[in-house]
Parts: sequence; C-alpha cells; structure tokens
Amino acid sequence: MTQTGQITSIKDPRVAEARELTAASARTRLHKCLLEGSESIVWAIEARLPIEHVFYSASHEHDPVLSQLHQHGIPSYLVSDGILKKISDTSYLVPLLGVARISQALTEPETMGDFVVVLDRVQDHGNIGTIVRTASAFGIRDIVSTTSSLDLFYKKIISASRGRVFETRVQRFQSGGEAIAALKQRGYQVIATSPYARDIQAMAPLQARPVALVVGNETEGIADDIVRNADIVVQIPMSGQVESLNVGVATGISLYELKFRMVLTMLIDYIRSNTGREVNIAGKLILQAFDAQIRKVSDLTGQQAVLLMILVCDQLMTREQVMRDTGALPHELDALLQPLIEKGYIHYTDATQDSIAPTESSERILAQLWSIVERAEQNVLAGFSEQEKAQLREFLKRIQENCTRIVEES
Ligand SMILES: C[S@@+](CC[C@H](N)C(=O)[O-])C[C@H]1O[C@@H](n2cnc3c(N)ncnc32)[C@H](O)[C@@H]1O
Repeated sequence: MTQTGQITSIKDPRVAEARELTAASARTRLHKCLLEGSESIVWAIEARLPIEHVFYSASHEHDPVLSQLHQHGIPSYLVSDGILKKISDTSYLVPLLGVARISQALTEPETMGDFVVVLDRVQDHGNIGTIVRTASAFGIRDIVSTTSSLDLFYKKIISASRGRVFETRVQRFQSGGEAIAALKQRGYQVIATSPYARDIQAMAPLQARPVALVVGNETEGIADDIVRNADIVVQIPMSGQVESLNVGVATGISLYELKFRMVLTMLIDYIRSNTGREVNIAGKLILQAFDAQIRKVSDLTGQQAVLLMILVCDQLMTREQVMRDTGALPHELDALLQPLIEKGYIHYTDATQDSIAPTESSERILAQLWSIVERAEQNVLAGFSEQEKAQLREFLKRIQENCTRIVEES
C-alpha cells in the first residue's frame, strides 16, 4: 500500500535530507537528487529513476502527477508551503518536490558508448543541460568531464536537459590530461573543437573508431594540453565578425555532423570487412587462379574443367546437380554449358535438355587437365596444413548450410 500522509515538522528526517540535496556535496555523498516541479518528477518516472518520495503543497493535492506516483507505489506527503520553500531554498513556491536515488551506473559507469562528449570546464548550467539534451537526441548518453566537480543533477541542468540527465552516464576526471589519456587508451579518437582550428570539421579525416568530441569553456575554450594531445582539432567555419559560437550551439552542429560521419565510416568499414564480401572475393579469385593455370593448356575455364571432371566421374548429371557441384547460379548455367556443347565435350541426353553426359573428347582433354587442376588447387591452398585445409572446408560447409537455412526459412 502506498504511504501517503502529512509531514508537519521541518525537523522530519525526510525533510532534513531533502533540504541538504540543494548542495552538490550532499548529492554526491548521499547518491540522491532533488526533483523540483512536476516536469522533473515526470522525467524521472519516464527514465525509471528510483523516486523515494514526493512532498506536495495543498494547492496541488489533485495534481495528476500524484496519481501517477501512487500507481508506481511512490509515497507522497502533504507539507506546508513554508516547508516546501525551505526545501527548495527559494523565495517562490515549488509545489511538488521529490527525492530520487542516483544509481552508480550513471555516476561511475563501467562502460561507455561509441560516441562520448567531453566537457572541458564548461561552466554554464544552461549550456551543459543543452549539450546533454542534444547529445541524447543523437543517441549519445555518455558525458566525460575534465573536472571532478561536474554535477549533472543541479536543478538548472536538469531542466535545460529536459530530464535527459536521468539517462546520461558521466565519467569525471581530475584533469584534461588524465581524461584524454584514458580515452585514447580505450581506443577513442579525440576530436577537439576550436574556432581557431585549421581543419574544417566537415573535412576532418575520421577513422572507423569510437569518437570523443571535446568542447571547451565559454571564455577560455579548450585547454592547450588537450588541443596538443587531440588526434584532430576542427573548426566549424563561420563568417562575419563572430568570434565563436555558443558552446551548446557548436556542440549541436558537431554532434550532428560527426555522429553521421562516424556511423557512415563504421558502416563502410563493416561492409569492407564483412564475411560475405571476403568469401565472395576469395571465390572470384580462386576461379581466376584456376582459369589462369588451365588456360595455359586448354580452351576451358577452371569452372568448366571442374564440371568435366565431375561429369566424367558421374557420367550423367542434371542441370540442378551441375549448379550444386560447380556453384554456378541459374542465370550463369547456359554460359557455362553452351561452350562445352559447341566444343563437343558434353551433350544433352534428352529432349528436355535436363540431363547432361560427357563425350569421348572430354575424357581425352581431362587426361591432360587432371594434374593441372590438382596443382592449381594445391597452389590456391599453398601454406595451409592438412588440418587447416580440412578446417577451412568444414567452415565453408557450415557457412553454406547456414545460408541455405536462412534462404529456406525466408
Ligand atoms: C565560446 S567558445 C570559446 C571561445 C574561446 N575564445 C576559444 O578560445 O575557443 C566555447 C567552445 O565552443 C566550441 N566552439 C565555438 N565556436 C566554434 C567553432 N566555430 N568551431 C569549433 N568549435 C567552436 C569550442 O569547443 C569552444 O571551446
């Protein structure tokens, strides 16, 4: 049953604790924060931040947020407007105030995503909140701070971020140097921003690696040692008499451009290194290598020579079997068979042209080709041990089986 009731004493321990939470030091010590106003409370519910309890003014006893809280089993207490003002430490009334727990996963995260924003001594709470909100809009939920004092749970940051701080992880370092060294060690490419940089952001050479975007203090910009140690320093080109952009605005532009380019770079890298492409290229190169060796002594391609070898063994094959044994696709089949028919190496045994048999000349040409095909195979697998060759065949067979299953299932 949800606990609701009235608190009348300013000395009540829940009130005393909430009063403390206006100070950053208490938030850090208690791992809790103050939610000021109904919007903050709703953002916290949406972010599944564990809310311990809420204090409300008599003027708001029918506020829909209270029934939302009751549905979630969160206790709410009626308190006087005087106590509410004492808790928020304001001369004006904030009619709903909540206390929520801050999980360690947000303040001491063990992992970070592929794109992080590094705040180098950014001071203004509105700017910090805007940056968190914009980053969140681009799917970025990791903030790195070059100072140990950054506290995202300050009321102005909560409201400027529209509650996105409740889902943002923050890693704090003692200095810029320490932050950059740690990021580089974890494989991030560090991109610093400055209105005075030589490289234009849109042209910056990105690698297919996670990105740490550094933005700087409103007056001083990014510290010199960070600029020196960054992998790239970029500027957003400006025209006119403007010295620099507001850091929140600059971060928005950089995030949009760099996140898009990072995803594209990673995608291209993935396409270049994916299994299908590697196997496809290997298959084509093997055929070329066979062709090159076999053409030295005959007018056949490697694939045709392999087909003749199988056909001479089996004596009769259907078109289906030919495709299966040579790897030819349906639209490639006629181009494979027709030259062999014209050169008199094979013939159809039925009117429907589905069964294929070898002729005597195919046996003659095979006598010359046998050893060459075998040598070509040995050359293609040069350097492989017998065990590796067996493994390779096994792996390829498994890939083929997986692919066949995927095609059949769809
Ligand atoms: C107001 S600016 C600081 C200007 C300061 N005079 C300086 O030396 O950089 C705050 C931050 O916004 C970013 N910034 C502002 N304008 C920029 C631009 N045109 N190109 C790249 N970054 C910019 C940088 O991260 C900068 O450190």
